[in-house]
Amino acid sequence: MCGIVGYIGDKQATPILLENLKKLEYRGYDSSGLAVYDRDRIEVRKAEGRIARLEEMLKGDEPGGSAGIGHTRWATHGRPSDINAHPHADCSGEFVVVHNGIIENYLELKEWLESRGHTFKSETDTEVLPHLVEEFYRGGPGDSEGDDPVNDGELEAAVREAIGRAQGSFAIAVMSQREPDRIVVARKNSPLIVGLGDGENFLASDIPALLAWTNRVIVLDDGEMAVLTRDGVRVSTFDGEPVAKDVLDVKWGPGLIEKGGYEHFMLKEIHEEPRAIRDTLAGRINGRTGEVSLEDFELDDDYLRRLKKIAIVACGTAYHAGLVGKKVIERLARIPVEVELASEFRYSDPMVGPDVLTIVISQSGETADTLAGLREARARGSRVLAITNVVGSSVAREADDVIHTWAGPEIAVASTKAYVAQLVSLYLFGIYLGRRAGALKPEDSKRLVEEIRQLPQHVDMLFGRHEERVRDFAREFARCEDVFFIGRGLDYAVSMEGSLKLKEVSYIRAEAYAAGELKHGTLALIVQGVPVFALTTQLDVYEKMLSNIKEVKARDATVIALAFEGDETIGKLVDYVIHIPKVDPLLTPVLSVVPLQLFAYYAAVARGCDVDKPRNLAKSVTVE
Ligand code: M6R
Repeated sequence: MCGIVGYIGDKQATPILLENLKKLEYRGYDSSGLAVYDRDRIEVRKAEGRIARLEEMLKGDEPGGSAGIGHTRWATHGRPSDINAHPHADCSGEFVVVHNGIIENYLELKEWLESRGHTFKSETDTEVLPHLVEEFYRGGPGDSEGDDPVNDGELEAAVREAIGRAQGSFAIAVMSQREPDRIVVARKNSPLIVGLGDGENFLASDIPALLAWTNRVIVLDDGEMAVLTRDGVRVSTFDGEPVAKDVLDVKWGPGLIEKGGYEHFMLKEIHEEPRAIRDTLAGRINGRTGEVSLEDFELDDDYLRRLKKIAIVACGTAYHAGLVGKKVIERLARIPVEVELASEFRYSDPMVGPDVLTIVISQSGETADTLAGLREARARGSRVLAITNVVGSSVAREADDVIHTWAGPEIAVASTKAYVAQLVSLYLFGIYLGRRAGALKPEDSKRLVEEIRQLPQHVDMLFGRHEERVRDFAREFARCEDVFFIGRGLDYAVSMEGSLKLKEVSYIRAEAYAAGELKHGTLALIVQGVPVFALTTQLDVYEKMLSNIKEVKARDATVIALAFEGDETIGKLVDYVIHIPKVDPLLTPVLSVVPLQLFAYYAAVARGCDVDKPRNLAKSVTVE
């Protein structure tokens, strides 16, 4: 949550900070602000609302210097307001801080600082940080107050002392009027990336915000801090040990984070799904033999013999991908799989150990609960495999093994192409494991691999045949208060994702049910005209689904079925049918989710919602 940016060089900082903040707006967007060293003082501007409001405020009043920091906020402590927006400053206004994360012991620190004469303006936890830096810059506790000589040149040391007192998670950037030639940053459990330029350096919470300026980045690790000047970046541990960091050369072009002619990122990213599938498959399958290889990931015979169970841990959409993964792995490898929400897993005294493989799934690789789940599993001796979209993310770095999804940067808060790439990765993993465990015959593997390779064309075909129709349905049902999604087996897992997507972006109450459960309570909610999406691609339970559809039709629901091409029966029972290409039922989630994503998108547009930045949400949930 929250996005941090920084710039130090010889250009005007304000426009660069604003441009980069806009690229991070998906991380939080209830207020924003910046601080720029202009001549001999630090100028702070901040405003509640979207970055556009800050921009408006800056017209004719832009700070003019060439070093600054900025922030876009997703409120945790203190409601969204001008005062609670970052940057925050100490009493003198000489030290400014932007912060992503939560300072858990801020009340205790605030009390202590107040006892030493500091006064506070905001309701935030962050505000203790500039006061702490000021306190330690001026000598800190133990010295007689007020009459210490100022420790010029010690900003880095003051920040080091301040973060030593702070508990919780943080990525921070600090500037001081006394040392305007530097920005000091530190990271603990919240991402922070340094971008390297020529005679200029940058800072951001996420790589995409830097791509317009540089492809050379340093990913700070937990427990590291850095001092950025125009001419260089020096990294050290919180204890002051110098660290030699690798410089990564990021291959993404800036075009990947532009809308490319689409009205919203969400629609663009849905349309990028065929490419996300191709890129995730690239180099991993052998079409001739049907074998799958996953870069550096190998399970040796000894480990396989000991492997009793797989635990999948994730949040939100990634959790829904995990639900599909469970069925895929169990079917292909005959190894039991449990799927748990990361926020539950971490506090559940989980039964994982050396005989359990834990798979964490995360688009961003920074989700706090998922990361905590990963650490919990590792602490219990479980090997952890991460499926993530972000190279160098915390999850990728802390896991034992990684399967990268190659969906490219996902900017819309609603996850779409990343979900599809996660599914494809889980198919690859399932086939690999099935073959290694001897549960999947070579000819079955080959047939599945051949079908998986066709998925991008099928998705393209779905856009061509159904996008307009789905848009019309969405317009028709946009004013409905409730929408239901029903299915069995894998169709139920996809229903959950369809329902999350709809509620998240259109704010329509949407619920997913295992179709067989309707009569145990939910049927009471089915009344005349209520739209029900019924997924019918799981052929082993097809007849059962028809009965469930009849149950809702008997209550006069309006049923939109998703069925295989060639299914002539379904059209006689329901109001509308969306046909998807006939594939192995194991693979249908990749196809059936597409109309549901489009429906959510067009319903949100029809309702005038801010599709890419839904209310109260943020892209990367780096707080608990
Ligand atoms: O980055 P992650 O995949 O770990 O994020 C997990 C969830 O926060 C995320 O999938 C969320 O549910 C999406 N907004 C759903 O569209």
